[in-house]
Amino acid sequence: MSFMKINDLHVHYPIRGGFFNTVIDNVYAVDGISLEFEKGKAYGLVGESGCGKSTTGKAIIGLEKITSGEIIYEGENVTHKRRSFDSSYNRDIQMIFQDAHSSLNPRKRVQDIIAEPIRNFLKLSPDEEKRKVNELLAIVGMSEDVKLKYPHEFSGGQKQRIGIARAISCNPKLIIADEPVSALDLSVQAQVLNFMKDIQQEFGLSYLFISHDLGVVKHMCDHISIMYKGRFVESGNRNDIYNNPQHIYTKRLLSAIPDVNPIGRDIRKRERIKVESDYVVNHKSYYDENGKVYDLKQLNESHQVAMNAHEKGGI
Ligand SMILES: Nc1ncnc2c1ncn2[C@@H]1O[C@H](COP(=O)(O)OP(=O)(O)OP(=O)(O)O)[C@@H](O)[C@H]1O
Ligand SMILES: [Mg+2]
Repeated sequence: MSFMKINDLHVHYPIRGGFFNTVIDNVYAVDGISLEFEKGKAYGLVGESGCGKSTTGKAIIGLEKITSGEIIYEGENVTHKRRSFDSSYNRDIQMIFQDAHSSLNPRKRVQDIIAEPIRNFLKLSPDEEKRKVNELLAIVGMSEDVKLKYPHEFSGGQKQRIGIARAISCNPKLIIADEPVSALDLSVQAQVLNFMKDIQQEFGLSYLFISHDLGVVKHMCDHISIMYKGRFVESGNRNDIYNNPQHIYTKRLLSAIPDVNPIGRDIRKRERIKVESDYVVNHKSYYDENGKVYDLKQLNESHQVAMNAHEKGGI
């Protein structure tokens, strides 16, 4: 049973130009996507740079204006009240930002950064607040003496942890994690990811995990949507996407994952060549004449793909 639904979300940015600075076109950053969130599950959003992943996250949380579409949260249409102060939506949906550094106010100390949502939503006494901040720091594996420091005094991984502590401070239901580890080196990446998995189990959290790295998403997510130019090309569970990909874009992304294992290198190379020729030969099955992705069609209960059924003999 889902607690939140995103229906046909569009976010368009107007492009202005000409003598009168009028709107001459739009950037179709998000162009008709739908998502459904269940408690305790992790959802992945994957795609190349500029395909609209961050815009999707920011639109859900209320930092971008929605052009059309709706967000239904626990049965209520919250599309136009996402940022209303004191709303449960505002407390329950939190975001970890792609750029940990600029998402932390440089003039605030760590204790105030982490306590900000607590002050907005929980109304605790100063003592209780102090205890809560200490508890959160312990959860993200930081000692209490960092509380008086400023963001610039931390490494990238530490800043990401502060962002996570802030995001989980009011027991959210959904955390939108926008490339939470892509700026970190590999050992710290694993640390932060494992930590995020632990707190997911502990608190029954749901994630919308945004990444361009299919390896990371495989480790983290139950359900994955592949995004291209503001639309979903394919959506399914881990098995659907990694073992039975249907759309050429998904196949190309998967075949581009580097593999250090020399065994089977030839097979992988042949796979890649096959995928590239499929891309050229069957282009029309995957993209319309304007290069746009088709609407998603249901393949089975969990798997959806955006292909033109007529072009490839029915799917
Ligand atoms: N404020 C804005 N005004 C106009 N265009 C924008 C704005 N923000 C984003 N865009 C455009 O919208 C598209 C989607 O941007 P978005 O930041 O969502 O991409 P992304 O998938 O998160 O990419 P990355 O992986 O590089 O973070 C891009 O083409 C971008 O240029
Ligand atoms: Mg982004």
